[in-house]
Amino acid sequence: MCAIATQITAYDKTYDLQNLVLRVRTMLVVEGQTAVLVPRLDLNASYPPSSAAVFYNPTMEFGRDINVACMQALADSQSGRSTITYLDALGASGIRGLRVANEAHLAVTLNDHDDAAYKLIRRNAKRLLLNVHVKHSDANALMSEERFGVVDIDPFGSPAPFVDAACRSASKMLCVTATDTAPLSGAHFNAGVRRYSALPLNTEYHAETGIRILIGNIVRESVKYDKSAVPVLAHATEHYYRVYLRIERGARLADACLSSLGFVFHCFKCGHRYVTQGLAPVQCCECALCAAKPVVAGPLWLGPLYDQLFCKRVLNSLENGVFGTKKQASKTVELCLNELDVVTFFDYHKLLKELKCPPIPIETLLSSLRSIGYQASRTHFSGTSVKTDADVATLKGVLLDLCRATDE
Ligand SMILES: C[S@@+](CC[C@H](N)C(=O)[O-])C[C@H]1O[C@@H](n2cnc3c(N)ncnc32)[C@H](O)[C@@H]1O
Ligand SMILES: [Zn+2]
Repeated sequence: MCAIATQITAYDKTYDLQNLVLRVRTMLVVEGQTAVLVPRLDLNASYPPSSAAVFYNPTMEFGRDINVACMQALADSQSGRSTITYLDALGASGIRGLRVANEAHLAVTLNDHDDAAYKLIRRNAKRLLLNVHVKHSDANALMSEERFGVVDIDPFGSPAPFVDAACRSASKMLCVTATDTAPLSGAHFNAGVRRYSALPLNTEYHAETGIRILIGNIVRESVKYDKSAVPVLAHATEHYYRVYLRIERGARLADACLSSLGFVFHCFKCGHRYVTQGLAPVQCCECALCAAKPVVAGPLWLGPLYDQLFCKRVLNSLENGVFGTKKQASKTVELCLNELDVVTFFDYHKLLKELKCPPIPIETLLSSLRSIGYQASRTHFSGTSVKTDADVATLKGVLLDLCRATDE
């Protein structure tokens, strides 16, 4: 989906890391407006991003573009942008934090506990003449000792080992990546339970449940420190989830955000789903539509995933800035902005198949639902799905009507 960095120049010099055994062959890539030395990857390796001594994944340019636009949006919403501090806690080459320093002008600190990564970050910072701090610490130790306005954790796999310290450190925003989508989405159920203290559920809308479980976990870690954590943007893209949460201090705010936690109940027999608020699941005994026993997911975040004003600012930054993935990134943020605020979505292609109906354009379905008084939208989670406040029985009825109308 994402374009590889716009300009890749051979940079053949072997980078000797202070005569240590570590040697990283680098190349120069340009993402956004920032040229960064990254490791030369072995494209024949089973997973090229991890084939060198320092990690670099070119396909994450999309996520980093949105990240830079989010930081520009945050800076635009505050006066005195130089006072916003940003920690790239797990830096690798440093490309994420260096872009934030260069393109959003925040006061950036970059960190990595790995020798080769630390030295590559320092070299990049020097090349770019950026006034950033570079640290060589364990991320949890650093986040426990120092406070930052924005804390960004972009780990290998699960962010769970870093969430507690990140919540303690961040005062304005938390940016979290999770690439362990299988545990979060219920495909690896036990791992999901262990990492996030929640029950995941593998349904057609598992990406949304996964993101909401991740957010729910971050909220529960934040409130321990009398901080509220409320998502302003969240996206599921290819193999990863990325969430941005606004952090505010105060016991009452923390209590208020806890009230947005709850559970989703899903009936696998008919596809009906409903939510209940609270920290304990209050399960009614049977599905309201077919009387089968529903299955529960959660605790998870039931509140909005997007802040309209923030997302508009992000979109504005993307549309007016220099970004390699401008088109795809803007499209995703626009879809998020226009997504109906309901929990879960329906894969209507799956329903059409079940009803033995031919394909129907998504806009036809959306306008049919709206014409009979329901709200309906597309969703960035899936191109073949809709969000609506209609229940599954109503939706099937609308699909059957549309199907009959195309037959006539
Ligand atoms: C997925 S990479 C980061 C990618 C980078 N943010 C980017 O956008 O290209 C994760 C990095 O975290 C570092 N790391 C892992 N555990 C750490 C820890 N406990 N403290 C500090 N760094 C750590 C690894 O050395 C690795 O460079
Ligand atoms: Zn049912």
